Amino acid sequence: MGWMKDLSRRDFLSSVGAGTLSLAIAGCDTGERIDPLSPVAAPFKPTAKVTLKINGASKPFQFIHLTDVHLCECDARNPELIEFMARRKNDFRKPEQTARNLFNHLNTLESDFMVITGDLVDVPTRANLEKAKKLLDSIDAFWWFTMGNHEWGGRAIPRDREFWSSEYRLWTYQPLNWYYKQLHGINLLFLDNSNYQITRDQLTRTRVLLDTGRPCIMFAHIPILIDTLVKPVNDRWGMPICIGGEPVDMERRLSWDMGPTIEPATREFLALVRSHPGMKAIFSGHLHFNHTDEYQPGYPQYVTGAAYENVYRRVTIEPA
Ligand SMILES: [Fe+2]
Repeated sequence: MGWMKDLSRRDFLSSVGAGTLSLAIAGCDTGERIDPLSPVAAPFKPTAKVTLKINGASKPFQFIHLTDVHLCECDARNPELIEFMARRKNDFRKPEQTARNLFNHLNTLESDFMVITGDLVDVPTRANLEKAKKLLDSIDAFWWFTMGNHEWGGRAIPRDREFWSSEYRLWTYQPLNWYYKQLHGINLLFLDNSNYQITRDQLTRTRVLLDTGRPCIMFAHIPILIDTLVKPVNDRWGMPICIGGEPVDMERRLSWDMGPTIEPATREFLALVRSHPGMKAIFSGHLHFNHTDEYQPGYPQYVTGAAYENVYRRVTIEPA
């Protein structure tokens, strides 16, 4: 089967890095109000199909961007979390059922690979790790993953990113801190920025990668802050939960695992991304709504809405 043809929203055709991506496309859609008790029903909700023309791509390819599934399975192996996870399962409207149907649907679409940018689980319970593995094993394509804050923060026991990163060997042997894959002339960069910071090592590796001259597309859970994101992200979450979001309420900032301040390497990373001609596009999640805007003129960041609401994004890369 081919790509779904009944697109409910406009298609975008962007030529990245050529200054042709109009600021007019900047925008966000926080979605319809939903009844939290009703199940999520089909039809699936693809965002506008994105086509990016990139100078340096050797042939066209297609992928699916998926994020924020928030699985809420829990059993007697995590007795202290059973009550909490039952409430969350209700909040997210039975995300396991939604995900199973959505993954089946995605397998019917033509794509060369899929990227899941984090918060696959709401809390890393043993039952969630197993459920997630089954879902990942069901993907009929190559896939890559980036860590979300919910993979290790919040109610996780222990609340320890290093501990859970190694546990996710159950899902994949892909290095989760920083990893890239070269495909058809493009570097696909997968980065863990799930504590809102970039390490000095991640910064150095990214700079070296960009300086190779090969065009790069970055996938990471947390988007970088762009002017047009400030209002919608504050309206939805009460503070700018993005890379580069300045501290407002320290207690809340720490409760979100953001750390007390924006570290120097993170600021340098932001400056690099906002200026380097090799960073052609960014795909992220975390905010649970769709948003598109440029982080430097002609270079788009796509925030994709949450998969627990059946949302996903389809992307085609074409040679410029
Ligand atoms: Fe998140």
